[in-house]
Parts: sequence; C-alpha cells; structure tokens
Amino acid sequence: MHTIVKMKSIQMNIAFSILMIFGLFAVSQTVKAQEAQKQKTFPNATDNHRCFKCHGHKFFSFFNDVTEQKVIKRMNPYYVIDSSEFYRSNHRVLECTDCHDGGYLKFPHNGQLQMQPMPTCLDCHDGDDVTAKFHFNEIKKEFDASVHKKMYSNFQCSMCHDPHKYLVTARRDKNIKKIVIYDNEMCLSCHSDIVNYKVLSDSAPKNITVAHDWLPNQIIHFQNVRCLDCHAKVQNDSMVDHQILPKASAVHNCVKCHSKNTILMASLYKFQSKKNRSENGFLNATILNNSYVISANRNTILNKASLIIFGLILLIIIIHTILRIISK
Ligand code: HEC
Ligand code: HEC
Ligand code: HEC
Ligand code: HEC
Ligand code: HEC
Ligand code: HEC
Ligand code: HEC
Repeated sequence: MHTIVKMKSIQMNIAFSILMIFGLFAVSQTVKAQEAQKQKTFPNATDNHRCFKCHGHKFFSFFNDVTEQKVIKRMNPYYVIDSSEFYRSNHRVLECTDCHDGGYLKFPHNGQLQMQPMPTCLDCHDGDDVTAKFHFNEIKKEFDASVHKKMYSNFQCSMCHDPHKYLVTARRDKNIKKIVIYDNEMCLSCHSDIVNYKVLSDSAPKNITVAHDWLPNQIIHFQNVRCLDCHAKVQNDSMVDHQILPKASAVHNCVKCHSKNTILMASLYKFQSKKNRSENGFLNATILNNSYVISANRNTILNKASLIIFGLILLIIIIHTILRIISK
C-alpha cells in the first residue's frame, strides 16, 4: 500500500518535472523569438541604449573620475528623447549616430560637436525609392517658397518634423480629428512655446487665440481643421501642402469651407477622398463619414427636402398675399 502511494508520487514528480522542463523550454523559446523580433524591428536598440540611458530620462548619472563618485544630475528637458515615441516613429530603425556624430558616445560631449553639420531630410531621402511616393523634392520647393523660410533662412524641416518622433499620420490614419491634432501640434510646438520660438525670433509668439478672434467656435474649428488648411497654398504635386503663405493670404472666407466645393477636399480630406473615389466612387463620403461641414454635404434627400420646404414657404407667402389683397 505504502509503496504504491510512493511509486505514484514519484511518477507524479517525474511527470511534473518533465512538464516544467517543457514549460521552461517553451518560455525561453518565446523570449528568444521576441528578442529576434525586436532585433528585426529595432535593429539598433542595443546601440541606441548607450544614448537613451541618459537622454531617455529626466535624470542621468555618470562616474566622476576626479571625485571618484557617482553623480546624478537633471537632464535639460529639451534634450530628453522619449524612447517609446522614437520606436514608434518613422525613424525607429535608425541608430542615433546615423544622424549624430559618433563623438557623442563620449561624455562629457566635446563642444566642437555642435559645429558639425547635421544630415538634412533630403540628404537621405533624395532619390530614395522607398520614400519616393512622398515627393520630397516638391515639398522642398514649396518649403523654400514658404513665409517661414523667406523670413528665416535657418528654418529647418526638422523644426516641424522632430526627427525623433515624426510619424506619418495624415496619409495613414482615417480619423480626421486625430490627424488635425497631430498636425496642429507641429505648429503649436513653436507658436505656443516661447523657448522653441525664440530659437528663431527675438519677439514672443503672438497669442493664437487672439490672432483668430474673428473665427467663431474656435475650439470646434481647431479640432476639425488644420492650421495648414487656411495657411498653406493648395498644390497638386504633394499630398501635404508646405508653402505657408503670408498671413494676409490666409483663408478668411467662411464659404471657402462651408460650401459644396469646400477647399478641404483638396487639403485635409485629400487622402480620404482619393481613397473613397477609387473604392466606392463617392466623392464626398469623407465629409459625410467624418464630420459634417455645414452646407458642404451633398446628400440628395436633404437637398430635395430643402427644396420642398422652400416651395412650401413660397406657397404660404403667396396665399398670405392673396388673402391680404382679398381682405383689402
Ligand atoms: C552620460 C550621459 C550621456 C550620454 C551617454 C549621452 N549624452 Fe548626450 N548629452 C548629455 C548631457 C548632460 C547633455 C547636455 C549638454 C552637455 O552637458 O554637454 C547632452 C547633450 C547632447 C546633445 C545636444 C547638445 C550638444 O552638445 O550638441 C546631443 C545632440 C546629444 N547629447 C546626443 C547624444 C547621443 C547621440 C548620444 C549617444 C551616442 C549621447 N548624447 C549620449 C548626456 C549624455
Ligand atoms: C534622422 C536623424 C536623427 C536621428 C536618427 C536622431 N537624431 Fe537627434 N537630432 C536630429 C536633429 C536634426 C536634431 C536637431 C539639431 C539642431 O536643431 O541643432 C537633433 C537633436 C538632438 C538632441 C538635442 C535636442 C534637440 O531637440 O535639439 C538630442 C539630445 C538628440 N538629438 C539625441 C538623439 C538620440 C539619443 C538619438 C537616438 C535615439 C537621436 N538623437 C537620433 C536628428 C536625428
Ligand atoms: C540619416 C538618414 C535620414 C535622415 C537625415 C532622415 N531620414 Fe527619414 N528615413 C530614413 C530611413 C532609413 C527611413 C526608413 C525607411 C524604411 O522604412 O525603409 C526613413 C523613413 C522616413 C519616412 C517614412 C517612410 C515610410 O514609408 O514610413 C518619412 C516620411 C521620413 N523618413 C521623413 C523624414 C524627414 C521629414 C526628415 C527630416 C526631418 C528625415 N526623414 C530625415 C533615413 C533618414
Ligand atoms: C511648418 C511646418 C512644416 C515644415 C517646415 C515642414 N513640414 Fe513636412 N509636413 C508638415 C505637416 C503638418 C505634415 C503632415 C504630417 C502628417 O500628418 O503625416 C507634413 C508632412 C510631410 C511629409 C509626408 C507627406 C505625405 O505625403 O504623407 C513629408 C515627406 C514631409 N512633410 C517632408 C518635409 C520636408 C522634406 C521638409 C523641409 C524641406 C518639411 N516637410 C517641412 C509640416 C511641415
Ligand atoms: C479658418 C482658417 C484659419 C485656421 C484654421 C488657422 N488660421 Fe491662422 N490665421 C487665419 C487668418 C485669416 C489670419 C489673418 C488674421 C488677420 O488678418 O488678422 C491668421 C493669422 C495667423 C497668424 C499671424 C498672427 C499675427 O497677427 O501675426 C499666425 C501666426 C497664425 N494665424 C497661425 C495659425 C496656427 C498655428 C493655426 C493652427 C493652430 C492657425 N493659424 C489656424 C486663418 C486661420
Ligand atoms: C520652429 C518654430 C515654428 C514652427 C514649427 C511654425 N512656425 Fe509659423 N512662424 C514662426 C515664426 C518665428 C514666425 C515669424 C513671426 C513674425 O516674425 O511675424 C512665424 C510666422 C508664421 C505666420 C505668419 C506669417 C506672416 O505673414 O506674418 C503664419 C501664418 C505661420 N507662421 C503659420 C504656421 C503654421 C501653419 C505652422 C505649422 C504648419 C507653423 N507656422 C509652424 C515659427 C514657427
Ligand atoms: C478652413 C475651413 C473652414 C473655414 C475657413 C471656416 N470653417 Fe467653420 N467649420 C469648419 C469645419 C471643418 C467645422 C467642423 C464641422 C463639424 O462640426 O464637424 C466647422 C464648424 C463651424 C461651426 C460650428 C458648427 C457646430 O457644430 O457647432 C460654425 C458655427 C462655423 N464653422 C462657422 C464658421 C464661420 C462663421 C466661418 C467664417 C468666419 C467659418 N466657419 C470658417 C471649417 C471651416
């Protein structure tokens, strides 16, 4: 009796151990697969960690050889790079030192490094097949003609497109509100941030709310329409217009948007309208699906209903006039 119980428990133990070994093996394989996947998606994560260990946090530490002590210091908040944003961005496959000089591996950084020219967007993307569909050259031409570049020759693409977090949004996202927030954030990161603004201009940025006093329902507008849609020249070549015009040429006229031929079809709704047209032939499905721009909708039932209402009102006026004539 006793031996049978013992035998059973030994058998159970063996079975359990085998299961454990299999389990551990499976776990280690999954971890390995995850590592391999990570390696494939973020080939430079290990190298980049050499920079992120300082630039990924509000604090950084180093060993002071002179005092032989570990020192902890605060990082300049403008030098903190959000690693999760970086690994979500267009440039997640890059190594920090693809753009920054390898000299940055040494700390304290050599002050001379700040004099090194940085590669521009076009240095990497001009004539590159993978990103040809983005029309970098046309965008460059539009940017060069923009009011920003004309006022400040040191204005850079990277001042709007933070190379550490820029992620293509308007082209890929279907949610118009999300696109609007993402794109407007690029303008506001400077027009509402005195530190970034002062890199270019001696004066403080004008208050955006005050500058748009004339626009009713400002909150609704800034959530549904981009700064670009009123401030950039509409072009055919590029999908996102880059020629910001002087303020006197900005769209001021409500009807430009609140009408059947809303200019938004050629700007904000450009990606969606192209897609919808090729998918189901409806030109303004975008407007009907995403937001109802007053009077830009072309629903035939509503159009007929408004005609009927108009007719009825006309009829009432005529009857009213006849009755008045009769009563006189
Ligand atoms: C030990 C911490 C530490 C490490 C590691 C580090 N940095 Fe820095 N970095 C700093 C600090 C602190 C500053 C602020 C300016 C200074 O003290 O030189 C800075 C400034 C910078 C600047 C902007 C100002 C300038 O001097 O041009 C850049 C760009 C930069 N680092 C890039 C990098 C890159 C790229 C790496 C990795 C290859 C890296 N850093 C690794 C601490 C570090
Ligand atoms: C695609 C190119 C590119 C890559 C990749 C890149 N940077 Fe930068 N970085 C820039 C540019 C451009 C600037 C702006 C330089 C300027 O305005 O003086 C900059 C600025 C910085 C600054 C100074 C803060 C600022 O915003 O001016 C730090 C710190 C920095 N980078 C760290 C890093 C680290 C860490 C990595 C890797 C995780 C990295 N960078 C990867 C292009 C790049
Ligand atoms: C050091 C070279 C380098 C620089 C500088 C650089 N890029 Fe890139 N960029 C790349 C690489 C590499 C990729 C990844 C392409 C891929 O996924 O095959 C990329 C991807 C992109 C993509 C996304 C393409 C896609 O299909 O998702 C866009 C958009 C982009 N970059 C814009 C810019 C802009 C704007 C700038 C300037 C602010 C810039 N790049 C600067 C090398 C660079
Ligand atoms: C004043 C701000 C600003 C400047 C300066 C700027 N851009 Fe843009 N750019 C934007 C905005 C906003 C978008 C839309 C981003 C999104 O939602 O994907 C955009 C989109 C793009 C796209 C993607 C277009 C597409 O078809 O999806 C590329 C590529 C690009 N910019 C390159 C550049 C280059 C190169 C420069 C400099 C020659 C530059 N940009 C300067 C604001 C700017
Ligand atoms: C509905 C159209 C519209 C939208 C959306 C819009 N603007 Fe404007 N904006 C204008 C017009 C029109 C003016 C000129 C106002 C005037 O003449 O007083 C202007 C003026 C400005 C000025 C000049 C201010 C000055 O007095 O020097 C700036 C800067 C500006 N806008 C930035 C922005 C930014 C940033 C956004 C996005 C958050 C934005 N605008 C959204 C139409 C618009
Ligand atoms: C890096 C900072 C920066 C960014 C990003 C930026 N701007 Fe500007 N912008 C400026 C400065 C500086 C001026 C000059 C204001 C002045 O001196 O009157 C300016 C001027 C303007 C003007 C007024 C031009 C005039 O005729 O006076 C408009 C409109 C404008 N910006 C729109 C935008 C829009 C739209 C975006 C985003 C797509 C944007 N800006 C992004 C810095 C920036
Ligand atoms: C650049 C395009 C554009 C211009 C210019 C423009 N609007 Fe709008 N407007 C919109 C969009 C998009 C909405 C958001 C529609 C929605 O609610 O989905 C909107 C919303 C509104 C609303 C709010 C409707 C509601 O839901 O409560 C009013 C009112 C309005 N606009 C009036 C005006 C007036 C008056 C002007 C001229 C002074 C004007 N708009 C100029 C695009 C524009």
